[in-house]
Amino acid sequence: MYRLALSALGLLAAQAAAQCTREDLTAATDSLLAAQTAGTPSAISPLADTVAYLEAFKTADIATGILSHPLKIDFNRSLLDTTACATYTEIIVTDRAHPYVIGTQMRFLDGKIANISSLVTDQGDWLFNATGTYYWASRENWDPIPEDQRDTREVIQAAADAYADLFNDKSVQVPWGTPCARLEGGAYTGSGSATDRCDVGVPNGVALVNRRYVIDETIGAVDVFIDFATVPDSHEFRVEKGKLRFVHTITVMGG
Ligand SMILES: *[C@@H]1O[C@H](CO)[C@@H](O)[C@H](O)[C@H]1NC(C)=O
Ligand SMILES: *[C@@H]1O[C@H](CO)[C@@H](O)[C@H](O)[C@H]1NC(C)=O
Ligand SMILES: *[C@@H]1O[C@H](CO)[C@@H](O)[C@H](O)[C@H]1NC(C)=O
Repeated sequence: MYRLALSALGLLAAQAAAQCTREDLTAATDSLLAAQTAGTPSAISPLADTVAYLEAFKTADIATGILSHPLKIDFNRSLLDTTACATYTEIIVTDRAHPYVIGTQMRFLDGKIANISSLVTDQGDWLFNATGTYYWASRENWDPIPEDQRDTREVIQAAADAYADLFNDKSVQVPWGTPCARLEGGAYTGSGSATDRCDVGVPNGVALVNRRYVIDETIGAVDVFIDFATVPDSHEFRVEKGKLRFVHTITVMGG
């Protein structure tokens, strides 16, 4: 009994130690943006001694990957998960020479970045249209939610999970908000109006598995990296008062 209590305390201590500050996570996402802007992967910091680097959920070479290409970023937003010590950054590049929409999850170990996983989409990926993504994403309000109106991590994740479960179980109750809008690649289900809806249908019989979450309660947001059947996919949600407000998807075809 005593031993059990001690090991439970040890676990709590480990979890407490795993907490990251918003300042540290912001510094890391700022370094990611700087690295992508300059095309110098080594600018990302603080890097752990061993870093897992993935593109399209496959191990890749960070030295020759997307970060080695200098890109002019038109839009970025990061989710900071101080509990899981993880970040998600959405990057939109409308440069006509080569437009991109990129989603990157970074995970920390002992205060250092140990895992960088990016979904890089461009021409030919699902509903790809960086101009459209930029147009709609930049009009949405993802401002911080007043502290007394914030949802818990559990509520935010449950809204994302309900949406993802719907692809394989039409009996799931999804907390649709009104308005709600879905930005799928560069295609929008709404028009930016109060009557926008995102319960406009999803395919059936697809299992969305291996969900990896980054949750930021301050903006009511969660990003989920998902094996969409076998396709690498990101679903990012903004939740307000327990209900879905925005959905952004990035899906790598032929990845
Ligand atoms: C990222 O977005 C923030 C907030 O909109 C902006 O101030 C910053 O300049 C952007 N960074 C880059 C590298 O584009
Ligand atoms: C890195 O993170 C990605 C996405 O969050 C995950 O799929 C992958 O398994 C992780 N890799 C390692 C080596 O931890
Ligand atoms: C991309 O999105 C823009 C802005 O919504 C739109 O004007 C354009 O027609 C779209 N392009 C394609 C190929 O769908």
